[in-house]
Amino acid sequence: MIKLWMAPAGLHIEPGRVLDAKELARIHALGFYRGWPASEFETFLADRDTPIYVACDAKRRIAGFALIRVVADEAELLTIAVDPKWRGKGLGTALLKAVFEDLLATPARRMFLEVSEDNAAAIKLYGREGFETISTRKGYYAKPDGSQATALVMARDLD
Ligand SMILES: CC(C)(COP(=O)(O)OP(=O)(O)OC[C@H]1O[C@@H](n2cnc3c(N)ncnc32)[C@H](O)[C@@H]1OP(=O)(O)O)[C@@H](O)C(=O)NCCC(=O)NCCS
Repeated sequence: MIKLWMAPAGLHIEPGRVLDAKELARIHALGFYRGWPASEFETFLADRDTPIYVACDAKRRIAGFALIRVVADEAELLTIAVDPKWRGKGLGTALLKAVFEDLLATPARRMFLEVSEDNAAAIKLYGREGFETISTRKGYYAKPDGSQATALVMARDLD
């Protein structure tokens, strides 16, 4: 079965491929203080328990992606990133909706994520998509200035 979801700005969402690893590492590094090497994305892409959903155009130029891990009846959003050029157009929202829809075909019934409490854009997006804060983890993130940030642990049912 071919998996394909519509996305804003003429883009669509489809499963990531191993060849995407370098581009995913590039986009991820634009969104996070600590980037992950392409080899890490290759490992995720080769593992069916860590699917990646990419938002791209017809020529498969990638604007953003979401990476999840599925374990039994739980799913975790490991990361989501949209190229700064493409932010604010609804791609983050479309990626999450594609993930929710795809997870309906799995045993996962609840989804979790962690987000820095100072990441206003992401918290707004998650709140709008039904995630609620269930706990906090103090000092979870290291910031570029050497200080630490608290993580919010958020969760949402998948049905
Ligand atoms: C979080 C992220 C994936 C969102 O992607 P996106 O394509 O811009 O998402 P959307 O356009 O669907 O929605 C973004 C929402 O954030 C809001 N937003 C953008 N910048 C904001 C800011 N500085 N403060 C508050 N809200 C902000 C937008 O207004 C929009 O909400 P609205 O539609 O209700 O107005 C993107 O900002 C990103 O890649 N950030 C860097 C990586 C990151 O932080 N990932 C999440 C880590 S847990």
